[in-house]
Amino acid sequence: MNQKVVEALTAQVNKEFYSAYLYLAMNQHFEGEGMPGMANWMYQQFQEEQFHAKKMLKYLNSRGQKVILEAIEKPLIEWPSTMAVFENVLEHEESITASINAIQGIAVDEKDFATMNFLQWFIDEQIEEEENASNLIKQLELIGDNGYGLLMLDKELAQRTFAEPAAE
Ligand code: FEO
Repeated sequence: MNQKVVEALTAQVNKEFYSAYLYLAMNQHFEGEGMPGMANWMYQQFQEEQFHAKKMLKYLNSRGQKVILEAIEKPLIEWPSTMAVFENVLEHEESITASINAIQGIAVDEKDFATMNFLQWFIDEQIEEEENASNLIKQLELIGDNGYGLLMLDKELAQRTFAEPAAE
């Protein structure tokens, strides 16, 4: 396997674990704020990011690579408002999209067709990740200072679940 592609995917494994850790920190933020629905949304996101990291690890392993795990950076642990948390989610997901696109660029340059095919799943996933965050920001803008609206959104976010696909 091309070494540049291996290095880029290995760095992305770390970014996906960092993403998981960031969402776990956001989960804890909302636990502390008495917002169980938002805490749940972040916990599901935490699980989803671990799935992303594992999916990449498995792909590298299936192509004969052993992954050297690096330290995971400490995430932010405090945000000034609910809006600030979700703005951070969108900004973070945009940076992950850019990172995945950059790896795809390397795979294209190196003519690694299997990795190009593998990464297409992540490229599609990032569309959904950014859409979810930006929809929540729009809803929070509509809610503004309305406490009842915020509680209703919290109830809705309590419904979110994530189940790892059986085949993975
Ligand atoms: Fe692994 Fe939120 O993208």
